[in-house]
Amino acid sequence: MNFQLRLPLSILGIFLLALGGCNSGSKNQSAETTNSQATDSTATASQEVSLPAKADFQNTISGKKTDLYVLKNKNNVQAAITNYGGRLVSLLVPDKAGKMTDVIVGFDKLQPFTEGADTYFGALIGRYGNRIAKGKFTLDGKTYTLATNNGPNHLHGGKVGFSRVIWDANQTNDSTLVLTYVSKDGEEGYPGTLTSKVTYTLSSANELKIAYEATTDKKTVLNLTNHSYFNLNGAGSGTILDHQLQINADRYTPVDSTLIPTGKIEALAGTPLNFKKATIIGDRINDTHQQIKFGKGYDHNYVLATQRSATLKPAAAVLGDKSGIYMEVSTQEPGIQFYSGNFMTGSNQIKGGKKDEYRSAFCLETQHFPDSPNQRNFPSTVLAPGQTYKTSSVYKFSVKQ
Ligand code: GLA
Repeated sequence: MNFQLRLPLSILGIFLLALGGCNSGSKNQSAETTNSQATDSTATASQEVSLPAKADFQNTISGKKTDLYVLKNKNNVQAAITNYGGRLVSLLVPDKAGKMTDVIVGFDKLQPFTEGADTYFGALIGRYGNRIAKGKFTLDGKTYTLATNNGPNHLHGGKVGFSRVIWDANQTNDSTLVLTYVSKDGEEGYPGTLTSKVTYTLSSANELKIAYEATTDKKTVLNLTNHSYFNLNGAGSGTILDHQLQINADRYTPVDSTLIPTGKIEALAGTPLNFKKATIIGDRINDTHQQIKFGKGYDHNYVLATQRSATLKPAAAVLGDKSGIYMEVSTQEPGIQFYSGNFMTGSNQIKGGKKDEYRSAFCLETQHFPDSPNQRNFPSTVLAPGQTYKTSSVYKFSVKQ
């Protein structure tokens, strides 16, 4: 609503600037002056990119209303989130020329999100981000069986997961959206009634914060994350292979051929998986290293810490080679999954009439390590009644010339 008011205001701004320019000469000159003086990216923004239409997300599914919620800040950065799977649908940030760019790859209407195999575009993932071996884990002597929806393994919460449920949404102000979801005891095979609250906040410093909270009435396991696919040159602008990536990790959790961790925590130094120093993503992505072969590119958990931290810590940073858009990820989580879009096939039509081409997006999923419920060495993902699961991650945007 306020967002709709903004457009006329920015047009008024251009008009006033143009009037100022008129003092010094002809109509043409004043138009030029207006363009070069348009440091307020608002003006450029509303002309260059737009958010998906709210109406294209409004529906009723299983008796619950779906919608698209828009957060915005004073720099006209805007985040559009749907309560269908709590998905980040669009994020408009300025590039090095001040042109607003949508850095989120995914659909621009609800329907394709609800159909076919889940791409997890922009989704909140739960109850368990990434894989659990053979869809089984044991807690206090009892074995729980989950869906095996990824070869022999359980992936991203199962058949429906949190990415395809309708969250209750409450937009408390221009910059905050609170989503809640109560998962029933036994849902997707997990024990305990789990109440989750996820808060998206857009700050005036161009940071999108995702804060997660959850409680349970029975002991359970939990690993919530967000599965946004980023292309910092803009959605649909080609591969991310020339983006530069830095990950603040010295170690990672190597996997087997089904992408289940072996349980070892190994050094990254000397391997083509090392991003301690900022490196172009495509430089080593076709290396013959066994781990790159298993991942079909990068699809690995990087070890940031040995446990959840009380405060946010820098985890990764990415630079869009064409746009100059620089994204810094910080998190309280001990791990981050770097996925280089190896399973993207171009079979889905995404926003702007483009296709989700091979490696045209990357994900940086802040998380506990995959398969932790079956791995003694890994930080625990158990949540007990009386405890509150609390974690957050921030994606901060700026530019580098
Ligand atoms: C995660 C997994 C990948 C893949 C994507 C979704 O990042 O680690 O293997 O499943 O989600 O396609």
